[in-house]
Formats: sequence, C-alpha cells, structure tokens
Amino acid sequence: MISTKPRVFVAGSTGMVGSAICRRLESENYPVIKHPGRKVDLRNQLTVYELLDGIRPQWVFLAAARVGGIFANSAFPAEFIYDNLMMQSNVMHACYELKVEKMLFLGSSCIYPRSAPQPMKEEYLLTGPLEPTNKPYAVAKIAGIVMAQAYRRQYGANFISVTPSNLYGPFDNFDLKSSHVLPALLRKTHEAKVSNAEHVQIWGTGSVLREFLHVDDLADACAFLMKNYDEMEIVNIGSGYDISVLDLAKLIKEVVGFEGELRFKSDMPDGVQQKLLDISKITALGWRPSIGMRAGLESTYEWYLKNIGHCRNS
Ligand SMILES: NC(=O)c1ccc[n+]([C@@H]2O[C@H](COP(=O)([O-])OP(=O)(O)OC[C@H]3O[C@@H](n4cnc5c(N)ncnc54)[C@H](OP(=O)(O)O)[C@@H]3O)[C@@H](O)[C@H]2O)c1
Repeated sequence: MISTKPRVFVAGSTGMVGSAICRRLESENYPVIKHPGRKVDLRNQLTVYELLDGIRPQWVFLAAARVGGIFANSAFPAEFIYDNLMMQSNVMHACYELKVEKMLFLGSSCIYPRSAPQPMKEEYLLTGPLEPTNKPYAVAKIAGIVMAQAYRRQYGANFISVTPSNLYGPFDNFDLKSSHVLPALLRKTHEAKVSNAEHVQIWGTGSVLREFLHVDDLADACAFLMKNYDEMEIVNIGSGYDISVLDLAKLIKEVVGFEGELRFKSDMPDGVQQKLLDISKITALGWRPSIGMRAGLESTYEWYLKNIGHCRNS
C-alpha cells in the first residue's frame, strides 16, 4: 500500500538524535529514508544536492552535525565551525532548491549567552556573549537558525528550528575524548564497577546544575513540532528541571550498581553554574516530556551493556 504520509529524510540518522527520530516516525509508519552518516559527506554541496534530488523527500530532519563535549570543542574548534556550517548550509539550501515542504533544524542550548538568566527563554538568543569554550559550535548553530529564518522570510520556506537541552539515550557517544558529561559518567562508573575500582574520578566540584532530556522524548517533540508548528521563532525542548552533577553521579552509581566512592577533582573547571531551558513555549503548544531520569538512565545503561563492543570507541 502506498503511504499517504510525507516521505521523510533524516540527515544524521546513524547518530543518537537522528536514529531516535527514525524510530519515532517509523512507529507511526512514516516512510523514512536514512542517511549512512559520514560515508555520504554532507559538507560537499554537490553530494547533498544529488542525494536529496534522488530522494525527493517532503520532510527533512537535519540532525547531522559535528557534536562533542568540552574536550572535543576545545581541541577542534575549526572543525566544529566548518563542518557544521557546511553541512547545515548545504542541506538547507538543497531543501529550498528542491522545494522540500518542511525542514527541522536541530540547534542546541549552547546558543544562549553564557550569563543568560535561568531558565533560558527563546528570546534570550543573541542578547549577550557566548561561552568561549564552544563558541565556534554555537556560532555555527546560530547561523543555522538565522539561515532557516532568512529562507522563510525571503523564499517562504517552511523551515523550523529547535533548541534541545543536553540529551542522552541509545546511540549516545560513550567515547571519553568526545562525549558529554552523562555518557562519560555512565561509562566511567561502569568501568569502575567491572574493575572493582575503589572510586570514580569526576571533573569539577559536582555542584553545577544541568538539564537532561532522554532522546526519545526529544524525537517525540520533534515529530510533534513537525506536525503542529510553522513559525520562524525557535522552540526550546527540555525536561524542565535540572540536577547537580553530584546527584547525577549518585543516580548513575545506583543504576550501575557501583559500590565505590565518587571523588570530585575540584581543581578542574566546572563551567557555568546552571543551564536550564524554559520550556513553557512548547508545553503551551501541547507537548510534555514523559521519560523520568531514573527510567531513562536504566534503559540507557541497558542499551550500553548490550552494545558495549559496538558503540563509538567502547
Ligand atoms: N547530543 C546532545 O546532547 C545534543 C544536545 C542538543 C542538541 N543536539 C543536536 O542534535 C543534533 C544531533 O546530535 P547527536 O547527539 O545525534 O550527534 P551524533 O550522535 O554525533 O550524530 C551526528 C550525526 O551526524 C553525522 N555526521 C557528522 N559529520 C558528518 C559529515 N561530514 N557528513 C555526513 N554526516 C555527518 C554522523 O555520522 P557518523 O555516524 O558517520 O559519524 C551522525 O549521523 C546536532 O545538531 C546537535 O547539535 C545534540
């Protein structure tokens, strides 16, 4: 039977967010065309045009990006700005040229000023200086948001942009050199348990507050907005609450079943004290997260254990 639902292309479907969006849409029987990641390099304009011309999708989710934690952002700032600017510009421009009906661009909460009031509202974008450690990445993401808005204004393209908080879940990056705080903690705690170590060492004081959203909630929100939102302004997607790194480490210790000690290396930098998104806009539109932190961590750890030899640098 021919589907009456829009044909969807998910750029970056080998990644954590892209694969979650595919799972979410496939559960509703959308015809989803996947993208084999870097093997089809989206930094090349001709490659992108030919790829999308061959697929002729009606919806595009732009979840391909160069992503990483503080170490990777500091070590490879040029790659973070170049790769992201190229990929997103090529995909968005091809969507415009090929008259794609709707495109969703994934931004990130690091687009907000370093000293933005908490929780961070959508209107704080471009109101102050950025956090220096990931500025090239944040500037690329801001350029993507502004590009989507410009294409809407000049060409009437139905491009929307979202701003997710820190994400975690299946297909996360557990490589300690490039991962974010949560997968890094999960892996370190697991390895400490397996090696019967006395302690896990954690960077910083543990006092900073961070917000985390399970990637399946994010995918659900993206599907919701694709169906229900057609405006130029960005939309925050988060869990609506934050947790200290200390409490996160304690929760992970329980989920993993590690009996040793948590030791904080407090001479290492903590980053900003709090990062929490204001999610009142998306909740007013009718969407809410549904996966609690403990349940989300338990299923992520289960996934990690099953995929330990296959996930990135495991
Ligand atoms: N992770 C988070 O906590 C978080 C938070 C907020 C926003 N986001 C946003 O969500 C989006 C997806 O993030 P993610 O966590 O899913 O990242 P990810 O797991 O690292 O996935 C990135 C995807 O992009 C692909 N990719 C990278 N370079 C490419 C290239 N040159 N050509 C083609 N494909 C390329 C990767 O392919 P390979 O598999 O071949 O590497 C992979 O499919 C990003 O825009 C990110 O900014 C993520």
